[in-house]
Amino acid sequence: MMLHIPGVLTPEQVAQFRQKLARSDWIDGRASVGSQGAQVKRNRQLAEGSPLALELGQAVSRALGAHPLFISAVLPLRILPPYFNSYAGGEHYGMHIDGAIRTALGGAPMRADVSTTLFLSQPDEYEGGELVVLDAYGSHEVKLPAGDAIVYPSSSVHRVMPVTGGERVCSFLWSQSMVRDDARRAMLFELDQNIQQLRGAHGDGEAMVGLAGHYHNLLRLWAEV
Ligand code: NI
Repeated sequence: MMLHIPGVLTPEQVAQFRQKLARSDWIDGRASVGSQGAQVKRNRQLAEGSPLALELGQAVSRALGAHPLFISAVLPLRILPPYFNSYAGGEHYGMHIDGAIRTALGGAPMRADVSTTLFLSQPDEYEGGELVVLDAYGSHEVKLPAGDAIVYPSSSVHRVMPVTGGERVCSFLWSQSMVRDDARRAMLFELDQNIQQLRGAHGDGEAMVGLAGHYHNLLRLWAEV
């Protein structure tokens, strides 16, 4: 399931991030990928574990962890420290699939179930640079307002098109979900969203308690914590 998460960061936060990132040192993005990724990845990123990556990464993790839509869709068990990357002058990231197991600096290995890209540049600041995600329904091009995020299954093949003008700055992170299967996560998300809508319209009642119980019993059946 792909989902647009609006308003993860406020415009003020985005402006602060961009000011700090404009003064930062970028390194070759190939520092964090395996041999297959290195053949297709052409961008720059903040060094993993650098003070700025940690500071901004904590702010991103906090904002996502407090976003009801992200929680409902991702059911995060662990969020890997976010990366920050920049594409300009034709830089791109060719077709690839993210590795299944990731290990943060000094952390334990975790499974990458859900990928999140948080846009920090406005769409009119750069040419190209669409995130393209392939799934059973075809190919989806994503280019969102600054402060918004897209979540998509880490199991999907994806690419970032060449940035042919301007600069595309994004944050990127992986989450391990309590529910590893994308189809089950999508069903839980739809059920949760519909329960919330019904509750808003009709309040709580016996049927609503039953539906909420059904949600939690499915989660109990499928969650690994
Ligand atoms: Ni990727």
